[in-house]
Amino acid sequence: RQPVDSPLYPLLAAAADYYRQALKSHPTRKSAVEYLKGRGLSGVIARDFGLGFAPPGWDNLMKHLGGDALQQKALIDAGLLIENAENGKRYDRFRDRVMFPIRDSRGRVIAFGGRVLGDDKPKYLNSPETPVFHKGQELYGLYEARQANRDLDEIMVVEGYMDVIALAQQGLRNAVATLGTATSEEHLKRLFRIVPSVLFCFDGDAAGRKAAWRALEATLPNLQDGRRARFLFLPDGEDPDTLVRSEGTDAFRARIQQHSQPLADYFFQQLSDEADPRSLEGKAHLATLAAPLIEKIPGSNLRALMRQRLAEITGLNGEALQHMATAPAPNT
Ligand code: CTP
Ligand code: MN
Ligand code: MN
Ligand code: MN
Ligand code: MN
Repeated sequence: RQPVDSPLYPLLAAAADYYRQALKSHPTRKSAVEYLKGRGLSGVIARDFGLGFAPPGWDNLMKHLGGDALQQKALIDAGLLIENAENGKRYDRFRDRVMFPIRDSRGRVIAFGGRVLGDDKPKYLNSPETPVFHKGQELYGLYEARQANRDLDEIMVVEGYMDVIALAQQGLRNAVATLGTATSEEHLKRLFRIVPSVLFCFDGDAAGRKAAWRALEATLPNLQDGRRARFLFLPDGEDPDTLVRSEGTDAFRARIQQHSQPLADYFFQQLSDEADPRSLEGKAHLATLAAPLIEKIPGSNLRALMRQRLAEITGLNGEALQHMATAPAPNT
């Protein structure tokens, strides 16, 4: 997945050191420290996640690591410097931001996310794709979760850096985040190599609900018998960060136990919202939507049970449903 060795690794590690040190001692650090405190984070958590600060200014990192032209070229390759295409001027990509190092499964820094301290846009800035960073494959916090707990039995997938960190701060050290991309089959494959159970907990907004359905679709082809996925939907306007801080760890844990929905329940509920099974037309539509998705499930027991459930909801028999799942789609 990643090159075994690359000159970019030591450079990224040095940058992470610089940012971390700046959070401790740069003359302008105060705003960043206040910001992190304001979001409820302790020094211990900041250390565990290697949080840092990119000071304001165009060339702090460049001055610190810049060196000669060759070194600057490497910093550009690492996504840390930007070169202006017109005048060739180089400057720091990350300025006046709280820095989140993104680590690979071995703990090597491969990229960064940076958050503004206020309400400026863009709120988050991420490293670009580089030879060592393929954003669609990585899960923020996976290394830290495994460090904190050697025998994880469930991993929680959330949307953002701050969700992962706030949950960790509250003692829930099993959360990971996709990096501003949809959850992919590749992500799930990776997670199920580590744990038998995945819990999706996205923001309580339209984007979060859409992300949940996409996560379900990415999960289906990974559902061998013995694996499970569940979904926790949050109240409108909440994300895991805001909710775990307002209600506390115990209430959040209880919420997971009482309100998370098994994948199959969410599946039929969502499809029944889209195609009302009280009418024959709705039943027919529901079957058309559900049957091909059910056939993606490799676990033969779960697949059989979901077929059966679909047959109960629609009144169609197993054979008709089987045909529907495999027949070429009619013109629509
Ligand atoms: N994200 C991103 N680029 C953006 C916005 C978001 O990459 N411009 C990613 C980040 O990983 C972020 C996640 O999507 O952590 C969640 O986004 P969002 O819910 O919008 O973040 P907030 O919860 O609003 O962020 P915060 O709590 O820090 O205010
Ligand atoms: Mn990679
Ligand atoms: Mn959101
Ligand atoms: Mn948030
Ligand atoms: Mn959010």
